[in-house]
Amino acid sequence: MQALSPRENGIYVDCTLGGAGHSSLLLSQYPIGKLIAIDKDRDALEASEKRLSPWKDKVTFVKSDFKCVSDVLEHTGVERVDGVLMDLGVSSYQLDNYERGFSYRATDAPLDMRQDAEQALSAFDVVNGYGERDLIRILRDYGEERFAPRIARNILRKREQQVIRTCGELVDIIYASIPAAARRTGGHPAKRTFQAIRIEVNGELLYLKQAINEWIEALNPGGRIAVITFHSLEDRIVKTAFKELENPCTCDPRAPICTCGKVPTVKIITKKPIEANEQELEENPRSQSAKLRIAEKL
Ligand SMILES: C[S@@+](CC[C@H](N)C(=O)[O-])C[C@H]1O[C@@H](n2cnc3c(N)ncnc32)[C@H](O)[C@@H]1O
Repeated sequence: MQALSPRENGIYVDCTLGGAGHSSLLLSQYPIGKLIAIDKDRDALEASEKRLSPWKDKVTFVKSDFKCVSDVLEHTGVERVDGVLMDLGVSSYQLDNYERGFSYRATDAPLDMRQDAEQALSAFDVVNGYGERDLIRILRDYGEERFAPRIARNILRKREQQVIRTCGELVDIIYASIPAAARRTGGHPAKRTFQAIRIEVNGELLYLKQAINEWIEALNPGGRIAVITFHSLEDRIVKTAFKELENPCTCDPRAPICTCGKVPTVKIITKKPIEANEQELEENPRSQSAKLRIAEKL
């Protein structure tokens, strides 16, 4: 909340409403004027609508992908905003509701992983429909999984015998694909593959940079954007997006003067990302990999 330094009567956007933890804090602690609360998960919107009912006159709920910046602004009748928050990835609610299929602990859950239950593509389609090359690409690029080729090959082998239906069946394949010694390090052996498939299903990285750029464009001068990421791939995108806007000049660094005419649009507030301290880690172990980066519109 301090990152956003909320203004009296300001207009704020929670791009990732989830369980409304951040939004309820914002509304209860600061005299803001309006909150646009976005999520693509209808369950999250319904649960949060109840939680935020004391401030219902100030909140507009939008079921959308936060990448649809102009649609959201048009729908809410807003042109400029004073702060934007993104708390990326999967919510605790999604992870803990095993039937949503996000968790490698959800043995009998169907392979789903859709944040927007109305979209067509699910984890089932990726696992049962993608070719070997695409599976390897996803596991490598989105999961940084060094055993990607073995896992992909074993998925295809299994598919020759039967359709892979549950999270548990996929975990068994991953487990059998990773050598015993490697299974003992780096957390649960299925963690990276599940992350990779989830990122593919929800298109988590594809439009992130564009969305950050467009939300920054919609900020009033002095308005802030705060982005919390949970893995290095996301964090890199945020870091690069902010850097390019702070220093957009494309001239040769040895040139005496700038001729490209591109001027900075943000000041980066966090040279290094803010991470959870010991107390927060104790209270909320899921904050372990969280990184918060903040930029201010010039
Ligand atoms: C980490 S949780 C947010 C938790 C929230 N900050 C809270 O305090 O409860 C991420 C949420 O953002 C949603 N989400 C992720 N990517 C999205 C996107 N591109 N567009 C809209 N919602 C998204 C997910 O459905 C999930 O509910």
